[in-house]
Amino acid sequence: MTTYRFLVNGGPVEVDVPGMRRLLDVLREDLGLTGTKEGCGEGECGACAVLLDGQLVDACLVPVCQADGGIVRTVEGLARRAAGDASLDDLQAAFLETGAAQCGICTPGMLMAARAYLDAGGGPDEDGIREAIAGNLCRCTGYTKIVDAIARVAGTVA
Ligand code: FES
Ligand code: FES
Repeated sequence: MTTYRFLVNGGPVEVDVPGMRRLLDVLREDLGLTGTKEGCGEGECGACAVLLDGQLVDACLVPVCQADGGIVRTVEGLARRAAGDASLDDLQAAFLETGAAQCGICTPGMLMAARAYLDAGGGPDEDGIREAIAGNLCRCTGYTKIVDAIARVAGTVA
């Protein structure tokens, strides 16, 4: 066991775990942040996507030792970011309004991929958005409503 310290959604956390424990398991099981989902467990579906130091990563492929000293952002951090209360952020609201979330398994990862895209200055063009979410699989929506939701927010971001 080793002690690892990093920030999650702006708050410091400390865990005593084996260094190769998956960041996904640390988030869900050790820290109780179950918003991040597990789909394939093999880096193929993007359901577990989070931001690590601003980069989109699959938390099922990241050993916690790689997060040591880093900054992790999960879907739980989106709503908090909006207004310091439980209100949804603009991406979450757009997903809701456009019907971009159906079963919801892909949604947290999609939201984090979209957040990374917008944070990098991505615009409302469909090709750019589809490329940004290319690593995130959705079995329900056919992607069109997801692209619409992200485009809606990208089009209103200065
Ligand atoms: S669960 Fe991590 S990519 Fe599918
Ligand atoms: S909403 Fe069900 S997998 Fe995307």
